[in-house]
Amino acid sequence: MAVRKLVDGIYSVGVIDWHRRLFDELIPLPYGTTYNSYLIMDEKIVLIDTVDDGKEGKLLSNLKELGIDRIDYIIAQHAEQDHSGSLPAVLSAYPMAKIVTNAKCKSMLLDLLPLKEEDFIEIEDGEVLDIGQRKLKFIFAPWVHWPETMLTYDENDKILFTCDFLGSHYATSELFAREEQVYVEAKRYYAEIMMPFRKQIKKHIERIKELDIRYIAPSHGPVYDEPERIVKYYEEWAGDDVKNEVIIAFVSMHGSVRKAVEKLENELIERGIVVKPFDLIKADIGEIAISLVDASTVIIAAPTVLGGTHPSAIYAAYLVNALRPKTRFAGLINSYGWGGQMEKHILDVMKNLKVELFPTIMIKGYPKEEDMKKIEELADMIAEKHKEAGLM
Ligand code: FEO
Repeated sequence: MAVRKLVDGIYSVGVIDWHRRLFDELIPLPYGTTYNSYLIMDEKIVLIDTVDDGKEGKLLSNLKELGIDRIDYIIAQHAEQDHSGSLPAVLSAYPMAKIVTNAKCKSMLLDLLPLKEEDFIEIEDGEVLDIGQRKLKFIFAPWVHWPETMLTYDENDKILFTCDFLGSHYATSELFAREEQVYVEAKRYYAEIMMPFRKQIKKHIERIKELDIRYIAPSHGPVYDEPERIVKYYEEWAGDDVKNEVIIAFVSMHGSVRKAVEKLENELIERGIVVKPFDLIKADIGEIAISLVDASTVIIAAPTVLGGTHPSAIYAAYLVNALRPKTRFAGLINSYGWGGQMEKHILDVMKNLKVELFPTIMIKGYPKEEDMKKIEELADMIAEKHKEAGLM
């Protein structure tokens, strides 16, 4: 990524990773990502976050392009390696620099990287670092999504540096969020990374709303120059309201589950309910995660195989459990041959979910008339619950 000026004296010096397609070997990145690093040139020279391990060459060449021969402070807002991985390389190039972070982040960085105790300056929540014209205030924001994360507020320029918080995995050469897709990817990012910590996220949002902010500068994706917009989205996503939507996550081996799912789709649509079906063999798990942000009901439908529930359904249940959406209702549909244990298998891996369960529909083989009747009844129950909840 070329060096880009954010405001006088502050530059974006990070790296665009256009072609990365997976994060943590788990999360799809349909639009790549960026590892943003920001340089503040004041009486002190300050770098906020570094970039992923292996991308340090571009970061160092960006610093060289700006003629930087000294760095006083490297603010480490988060210990995860996509932001900290280049710390050793930056320290090697600028040995006079000190890493400024909190005690927890320092401890984690010492675990994760070849760094030394004397490389660090420890700061407290609310502490201000005087770098000349600017005073940088640190705001601890644990569990967005690790326990040590902090934000940095530059009151002079009214810029809030947020690391992962409010960010998006979206590779773009534009410094500012100009494309609508950025907000879709920010929602994906929230769903995959932040949603399990919804309660903490709500508190952090309240705290940053007290600040006078002109720019929100995350460490993934473009900078927001309409900061109120992303803050409003986060309030909505992390808030308690759900929508009149049903996610149906299904896998079908020989068509029986598919037949049942198609029946349920039609019945729900007829009742005025928005349906989002995901074939687990083809679906992007990020798309499922995005839908989980708002849906009031989740249905998992799967056949029995190898003496148990289809592993794709177990995987989906595991993800739903890990992401802890605000879903209120759930149901299961199983097609089986001679042994049906789906309810137990799925509920065993969905213990985090505080949902009201509909009666499980067990279908022996292909769905018959009596099974279709049960699906109609399930659609009735879902509609009734959505009405009671004021969703329709
Ligand atoms: Fe972008 Fe949690 O690292």
